[in-house]
Amino acid sequence: MSAPNKSYDPVEVEALKPEEIERMRDEALAAFAAAGDLEQLQEAKVAHTGGTSPLALANREIGALPPHAKADAGKRVGQARGAVSKALAARQAELEAERDARVLVEEAVDVTLPYDRVPAGARHPLTTMMERVADVFVSMGYEIAEGPEVEAEWFNFDALNFTPDHPARQMQDTFFVHGAKSGDSDGESGVILRTHTSPVQARALLDREPPVYIVCPGRVYRTDELDATHTPVFHQIELLAVDEGLTMADLKGTLDHMVQSLFGADMKTRLRPNYFPFTEPSAEMDMLCYVCRGESVGNPDKACRTCSSEGWIELGGCGMVNPRVLVACGVDPEKYSGFAFGFGIERMLMFRHNVEDMRDMVEGDVRFTRPFGMEI
Ligand code: DAH
Repeated sequence: MSAPNKSYDPVEVEALKPEEIERMRDEALAAFAAAGDLEQLQEAKVAHTGGTSPLALANREIGALPPHAKADAGKRVGQARGAVSKALAARQAELEAERDARVLVEEAVDVTLPYDRVPAGARHPLTTMMERVADVFVSMGYEIAEGPEVEAEWFNFDALNFTPDHPARQMQDTFFVHGAKSGDSDGESGVILRTHTSPVQARALLDREPPVYIVCPGRVYRTDELDATHTPVFHQIELLAVDEGLTMADLKGTLDHMVQSLFGADMKTRLRPNYFPFTEPSAEMDMLCYVCRGESVGNPDKACRTCSSEGWIELGGCGMVNPRVLVACGVDPEKYSGFAFGFGIERMLMFRHNVEDMRDMVEGDVRFTRPFGMEI
């Protein structure tokens, strides 16, 4: 092993000669100045300041110098590297400013342009209401069922225990589809526009084995004139549960759960006796007035417009599925029982949102639908 060479002069080491260092520095500065964009500058940076750049290699030579020569060489190389990194930073700032200025021009947004005059569409409040109700039951495990709007009379009436001369047939003013079946001399086809969603009960029972838990939202038709409280085309939601051991208590609990989900935890329903051919017993279902919560009853100071101070709002019909319907649909009434209910969506939208005229829901004027927002 030889001792360090005291007379060793950095000038003698090629890479550490002052003019060599200057050349390296000047080359770096020229490369930075020549870089036309940030990408080229990045390449120049790697070439002139990276681990294998001439100045970095020269810097490594210093370590091998004798102590007295180190300071001199270190100063020269250090100054050169300082000048290089300063020039790099300056060019970097310059090119970034250039890029920013260019981006500002190229990607400029003209904020004075008029906004989009064709507003994005939204679904009709009837649709969202119907889905909101259906969702309550889907979350309880019910299945959505559908049936045709052009329906066989048999499903709409006969299967549901409306006998041919049953007065209840006149309860529902029916649109008959004439002559759909060839050879009908009187034009009666046995086909109608369904007057309610209840025929889906019969279809569901024929399609499935009990237990059956279905909910059916859909459009129905009756020969009503369009006025503030009637429309010939409207929407209902129907529910049917058929299982072993179902009772009226299950029906009541299900109704209470529905109104609580839709109108608040302190809501409840009440049942009043009524008649429907397809349920026995049958009831009319009311829900507590969601505005006054019943407080307007006998209390003129708290008069309620929503329920006319009756405390209750009529919602629809319900009952225990008539065993005759179960039999017509091939279900053993000794083994199974069921409950059902059905109500109109338009009516619910009317009292839930204080809609006073049903025509507003039909006419398609966006001034009506807009306040409901962009619910999807
Ligand atoms: N379908 C009846 C109507 O349109 C409503 C109804 C009543 C449905 C009683 C039911 C029910 O499911 O059990 O007037």
